[in-house]
Amino acid sequence: MSSLRPLLAFSFLLILYTDIVAAASSSSSKFRSGSATVHNPKLPPPSLSSSKRFEGSSNLVNLRYHMGPVLSSSPINIYLIWYGKWALPEQNLIKDFLLSFSVAAAAPSPSVAEWWRTVTLYNDQTGANVSRSIIIAGEYSDLRYSLGTQLTRLSIQQVIASAVRSAPLPVDHRNGIYLILTSGDVIVQDFCRAVCGFHYFTFPSMVGYTLPYAWVGNSGQQCPEVCAYPFAIPGYMGGGGPAALSPPNGDIGVDGMISVIGHELAELSSNPLVNAWYAGEDPTAPTEIGDLCEGLYGSGGGGGYIGAVMKDGEGRSFNLNGGNGRRFLVQWLWSPVLKACTGPNALD
Ligand SMILES: *[C@@H]1O[C@H](CO)[C@@H](O)[C@H](O)[C@H]1NC(C)=O
Repeated sequence: MSSLRPLLAFSFLLILYTDIVAAASSSSSKFRSGSATVHNPKLPPPSLSSSKRFEGSSNLVNLRYHMGPVLSSSPINIYLIWYGKWALPEQNLIKDFLLSFSVAAAAPSPSVAEWWRTVTLYNDQTGANVSRSIIIAGEYSDLRYSLGTQLTRLSIQQVIASAVRSAPLPVDHRNGIYLILTSGDVIVQDFCRAVCGFHYFTFPSMVGYTLPYAWVGNSGQQCPEVCAYPFAIPGYMGGGGPAALSPPNGDIGVDGMISVIGHELAELSSNPLVNAWYAGEDPTAPTEIGDLCEGLYGSGGGGGYIGAVMKDGEGRSFNLNGGNGRRFLVQWLWSPVLKACTGPNALD
């Protein structure tokens, strides 16, 4: 479900998307510098996260399959909707992340593509696994805030409706997912209080079709300590407490969005219609494969530790390598094979 689920009572799920056009192929490792060291920062747990009880492995987790489809068509086509004002470097950072999912985007281990492999272990009753390949199939910029600077869960569906109606984006029933990203000045229902993003599907009455989608907001101005944790930590924990980590790409809000986008895409792919993979008995508030591992980024995490992650020569924290020489800090996911949270930077 949503990536900050603390208070979340009824929820939709989160996800995210992108498209890229010119993306990333600037030459190589311009962002990579020097060797990386491992560190194991102790940080206070995010105040709104209630998923910590599942951290690490647990026999209490009863993740079950509910007979619905997963996103098995290949490639998964992401249609990105940029709502509000986005700067090019912000868009490029998010696109570089999305372009790193597919195996073709070769990056050194531990990589984003290796991280996605955990999601491809989920399959449906036909035996079809989640696709290994994800592309940015289209992009649309809603620069004029067509539905205003305050959005509700339902008006987000209207943003998708206008994007497919005015036809900058196709209605892609087979492979499509729609990812709406709101700029830092856009207020979204429950944003910062209960959610940092969510995923769900559109309703025929709103959009004309049932299409899986996700929303993620840039929290940099509104609540970085909630949604861009651990790059910002709550003020009441400051003074003598552990310091926030330095974001891998120098942008607290957008680097924070990256992990939320990863969370939502993993859940959207394994539970697109909210009838496939989730734990708990309540389908209106499912606990999904990202929820189970929120706040965990490396080995030894839990109890206030995010786990062992890497630090580059400039002190910036990351746990995954991506295409275009990028580095990212992305939360771990629940593995149906290991029955535990895992990621490619695991030390054991
Ligand atoms: C598909 O999922 C099953 C069940 O988790 C797994 O055993 C298998 O390795 C997966 N196939 C691929 C190609 O990843």
